[in-house]
Amino acid sequence: MTEPGPRFKPVKFLKIVSCSFLLVVSLLLTVASIRTLSLDGNLGLQLARWEKTDNVSLELDLDHRRELVTRLREAIQIRTVSTSAEDINTTALLHFDRFLRQAFPRVFSSSLVHHELVANYSHLFRVEGSQPDLVPYLLLAHIDVVPASESDDWLAPPFSAEVIDGYIYGRGAMDDKSSLMGILEALEYLLRKGYAPRRGFYIGLGHDEEVFGLNGAVNIVRVLKQRGVQLSFVLDEGLALIDGVFPGLEGPAALIGLSEKGMATVKLSVSMVPGHASMPPRETTIGILAAAVKSLEENPMPTVFGYGPERGTFEQLAHKFRFPLKFILSNLWLFSPIVARFMERKPETNSFIRTTTAVTMFNAGVKLNVIPSLAEAYINMRIHPAQSLKEAMDHIHSTVGDTRVKIELINGFDPEPVSSSDEKSFGFQIIKKTVLDNFPTVTVAPGMCTANTDSRHFKDLTKDIYRFIPLWLKPGDTKRLHGINERISIKNYEEFVTFYFSLIQNCDIQNLPEPHSSVHEL
Ligand SMILES: *[C@@H]1O[C@H](CO)[C@@H](O)[C@H](O)[C@H]1NC(C)=O
Ligand SMILES: *[C@@H]1O[C@H](CO)[C@@H](O)[C@H](O)[C@H]1NC(C)=O
Ligand SMILES: *[C@@H]1O[C@H](CO)[C@@H](O)[C@H](O)[C@H]1NC(C)=O
Ligand SMILES: [Zn+2]
Repeated sequence: MTEPGPRFKPVKFLKIVSCSFLLVVSLLLTVASIRTLSLDGNLGLQLARWEKTDNVSLELDLDHRRELVTRLREAIQIRTVSTSAEDINTTALLHFDRFLRQAFPRVFSSSLVHHELVANYSHLFRVEGSQPDLVPYLLLAHIDVVPASESDDWLAPPFSAEVIDGYIYGRGAMDDKSSLMGILEALEYLLRKGYAPRRGFYIGLGHDEEVFGLNGAVNIVRVLKQRGVQLSFVLDEGLALIDGVFPGLEGPAALIGLSEKGMATVKLSVSMVPGHASMPPRETTIGILAAAVKSLEENPMPTVFGYGPERGTFEQLAHKFRFPLKFILSNLWLFSPIVARFMERKPETNSFIRTTTAVTMFNAGVKLNVIPSLAEAYINMRIHPAQSLKEAMDHIHSTVGDTRVKIELINGFDPEPVSSSDEKSFGFQIIKKTVLDNFPTVTVAPGMCTANTDSRHFKDLTKDIYRFIPLWLKPGDTKRLHGINERISIKNYEEFVTFYFSLIQNCDIQNLPEPHSSVHEL
């Protein structure tokens, strides 16, 4: 699902800055410090001016809280593992279907909710709104999980969903069953309280997200398209609440993903007539291919830092960084080349600022004394939102620059379009308000996903796709995703339920409040 947030060390930053830029810096100091003061991620939202639509309040009593945990544990215990597109656990998916019907009786019986199965194992719910003129939105989550080995060193077996020290351990606890269950728990409770939404909405639950969603999400989209549905926005997994994972950033932040990197799998191959090792030609297939691979590693695509959603991330969070990062990040118009130079040093941060190229497979040779007739290598590229699949392919062609190397695109897709995040952006502002209602100390900022989600299949239905779940990621947590000891705290899971509970009601506003130029009203 997600990948670790950028890490960088303020000390190194200082060093770079102090070298030769000091003079320029001092000249521009005055202009820049004005900007430092004026950028604050949470200003401009004017919570006081929003129409109040949260008519139902959520009271989680002890029994209800116990049931929430019981049901989430049950969801995790069902082994809905996707190993490959051909190898999904259909028995578990059918089991999960029965489980959902029993866990959420009102969702499945309410006259406001229309439920259908898509591609046998995915679920689509439509919740009818009382005001059909309000454009519906869609909440997305997935049922399947990546495999987890019982022999790995988990604190508790990965499908036991055991509770240890207030945490539920198990595959799917973070990715993505907390979100799936949180959405349905919120709806079940709202329906129980007699709630009827003004704005209609959909809930989509894909069954094969971990293997690209080509049956689940793709068919959900097909069904919606056939009905001519247009969506105000889509909210899926992707980014999260971060706390302490960016050195230098003070306090927690919520990153809302506006885009996802694209991808390309490219095959390089060289073929020649085979020969005997006793009379080798000057160049072999292996040598030619190795030179091509080396050249790709030595010539990465140039950084595009500042041209994608990562710019907004730093600008919105700048005021929460300690000096001098606060100053530097508030003034990317000046400092982005330095920041980029710094970020490219580490793989984690490098992935945010450019299209990456990784050589993942290299095959050649079958016998000790035969010059191989064929050598092939596979390249995996992750395409930054400021670039395209075509530009990535052009880069490979020009960098390899050897016609003996055959270059084939095996599969690939463009990066996702960047969703809106301005004051008039309904989805972004609703999500931001809901985050602030539930987590008042958090700073909200846009972000970019370096991994992919089911939501990428939805771009014909809406121009605004957001990737965020209210999951707390603290130091060391990102490696639990798809890793060992995946877990969620019971407290955080309750926050999922309340988040979706308020999100659904916040969506009932007719219009966003008018943007206002003054920031003092907050
Ligand atoms: C909330 O309740 C008030 C008073 O009953 C009603 O007028 C209003 O339409 C309700 N709002 C929503 C969003 O349901
Ligand atoms: C598939 O799911 C079934 C039913 O939930 C379970 O009994 C079985 O162990 C699962 N298979 C694998 C390989 O996980
Ligand atoms: C759904 O199940 C039916 C009957 O088992 C099968 O023929 C069909 O191919 C399945 N569809 C998908 C999308 O898996
Ligand atoms: Zn996921």
